Amino acid sequence: MYHCFLVPAIVVFSCTCRKPYETTDKMIERKIDSLLSDMTLEEKIGQTAQRGESSLNNGNLSEEIKDAVRKGRVGSFLNVTNPDNVKELQRIAIEESRSGIPLIFARDVIHGYKTIFPIPLGLAATWNPGVVEKCARISAEEATTAGIKWTFAPMLDICRDPRWGRIAESPGEDPFLASAMAKAYIKGFQGDDLSSITSIAACAKHFAAYGAAEGGRDYNSVSISEQLLRDVYLKPFYTAQQAGAATFMASFNDVNGVPSSGNEFLLKQILRDEWGFDGFVVSDWESVTEMINHGFCSDTMDAARRAAMAGLDMEMTSTAYEKYLEMLIQDNIINEKQLDEFVRNILRIKFRLGLFEQPYTTRNPEKVLLTDDNLDVARQAAIQSIVLLKNQGNILPLDKSTGKIAVAGPLADAPHEQLGTWIYDGEANDSRTPLAALRNYLGQDRVVFEPGLEYSRQKSREGFNKSLAAAENADVILFFGGEEAILSGEAHSRADINLPGAQEELINRLSETNKPLVLIILAGRPITLSNIIDKTDAVIMAWHPGTMGGPAIADVLFGKSSPGGRLPVTWPVTAGQIPVYYNHNNTGRPPDEDTFIPIDSIPVGIWQTSLDNTSHYRDIGFKPQFPFGYGLTYTCFEYSNIRLSKAVIHTGEAFEISADIHNTGLREGSEIVQLYVRDLVGDIVRPVKELKGFTRIHLQPGEQQRVTFVLSADDLAFHNRKMELVTEPGQFKVWIGKNSDEGLEATFELKK
Ligand code: NOJ
Repeated sequence: MYHCFLVPAIVVFSCTCRKPYETTDKMIERKIDSLLSDMTLEEKIGQTAQRGESSLNNGNLSEEIKDAVRKGRVGSFLNVTNPDNVKELQRIAIEESRSGIPLIFARDVIHGYKTIFPIPLGLAATWNPGVVEKCARISAEEATTAGIKWTFAPMLDICRDPRWGRIAESPGEDPFLASAMAKAYIKGFQGDDLSSITSIAACAKHFAAYGAAEGGRDYNSVSISEQLLRDVYLKPFYTAQQAGAATFMASFNDVNGVPSSGNEFLLKQILRDEWGFDGFVVSDWESVTEMINHGFCSDTMDAARRAAMAGLDMEMTSTAYEKYLEMLIQDNIINEKQLDEFVRNILRIKFRLGLFEQPYTTRNPEKVLLTDDNLDVARQAAIQSIVLLKNQGNILPLDKSTGKIAVAGPLADAPHEQLGTWIYDGEANDSRTPLAALRNYLGQDRVVFEPGLEYSRQKSREGFNKSLAAAENADVILFFGGEEAILSGEAHSRADINLPGAQEELINRLSETNKPLVLIILAGRPITLSNIIDKTDAVIMAWHPGTMGGPAIADVLFGKSSPGGRLPVTWPVTAGQIPVYYNHNNTGRPPDEDTFIPIDSIPVGIWQTSLDNTSHYRDIGFKPQFPFGYGLTYTCFEYSNIRLSKAVIHTGEAFEISADIHNTGLREGSEIVQLYVRDLVGDIVRPVKELKGFTRIHLQPGEQQRVTFVLSADDLAFHNRKMELVTEPGQFKVWIGKNSDEGLEATFELKK
């Protein structure tokens, strides 16, 4: 027998003693064995069922529901918000069902429970995994007060198309940044110990490639090469799995013709066999039976068969398993062992969550919800998510002594809208709006509020005159525009992503006053600005910033804090340019600023010419409005002296790349220093740039810091044509810069 704890550390490492979690895992598997051996087929199928109808929130639970729980026909509920019902359903499951298996209550706690943080796209704009982890932790602490033990988050869908409404919920377009976010969310939701009463199971969704929906139309088909799937779209999911994500959700879309809920390649080959996932996979809302609409299954029984064969463990709201699994097993179409696997996966997570020991919440909401600390984190997260897009003549930050401020636009005082999409439990009453925050800063008299438009889609010009009159008498105009919360999120794609309604017109009219005009955008996606950007002096992207959006925006406008965010997505000039993203492949004819011939320079009646036959749009060129990683500050950061610790590295080696960053401006500020590489020649075409590192630094005026990144040969791996993960010898370029379009360049070589 080993006494590992008594011997020196060096011996501990070489001994064969078990780590504590292995012991726990084995105990859990034994408990599952014993439960499974006693469960009826009906009870096993029950564990795979997740129900979520609105009647669950009524005062009285129906006898049908109670009976279903009593008979072990439900494994999970979603969206039960009535605390008495949560308690009662759990009590019936534990005390009155034969197996006594606890239920798991799920909810979409996406960017906060009561304290609402910026939308996930805004959180990605912080480029700060530490802040994101804190937001997820608070979300878990708050949500567990209501008995929620499972959130359908994080959403990890890479998105290159801002027309897609769900870009608001995504971590943006880049797999490296998204992976950093994935890890932070998992850590925050699940904590150090999943069985803690403040932890909730995370759900990496939507598996997979949902964000690549054709044309940005929600639920749409995805046609994608396996290489792109693996190197870009699956990367954050892999990170989530490695970080211990307890559950995954299958997506609505089909991937290359196979809907995810029946996709054996995704759910079995990749997730289980290649990655070793041992949690459970839930379908999306009725996505199992929607396989009939897809034309992938002939009827509900066929849908149950396809989903079961693909390895889908739990069915959300539709009832294909409940109706047909038993029959499919009896007919030997599905093996009962497969069902046992589903139940095992589900029970494993219930055990890990500590639900068997602690099925009820014991947390006091009053001490946990919307505390000052939580609100402070929300304010900091919003500040760090705010991206300064334009600041002509350094008009920002505003001086507190600026005389009168005209506040216009539909979103200056819209407490519900600033919370954004997916805020089931957040309340508008708790929101601090920009208008209230500005009045706090400057006093009532100096802030004149004439919105001109009541809501973002409004077309009526009725309020224009009052707004213009207020602007005439002011020293600065602050226009709070963008999108109402409902214009992004699920099934809210837009073909045109300009400012909706009459906002552009109002901005145009306001600019005619010749007063300095600052546009603050609150929206769930990048908004194309080409019609109005020249009419503004400064533009701030605040996303939908959440409960503390108002104070955060005011802090930034008046320079109490510097705008901390950088774009997690490329910002298009116009929707016709989409998809536009920084890590694209090169064509054989890349565009070139020096040779580009714009549409208006083409002589009328000219014969077809081959001048400037490169890849671009004749009318708008080839550059986005703002590149990925972009964001201004109130000071000036200069980059110099890029150095590599080695010019040649070998497989398996790592090296350092560093540069000096100098704050040459007059104010302190934060910079997000970014590292990009390009693999010049590959077995398949490699992207023109790929993010491989980033770090946030804060420098006082005149201060300089050397920033060092460590890059290993493994970081350069990609999938070749045979789908092998390889690092190929060859030449690479590397940049350290402030965004994907600027930076100091160096080269290195990778040798075998
Ligand atoms: C459908 C959405 O696609 C998914 O993200 C969400 O978690 C479920 N509905 C449950 O609300």
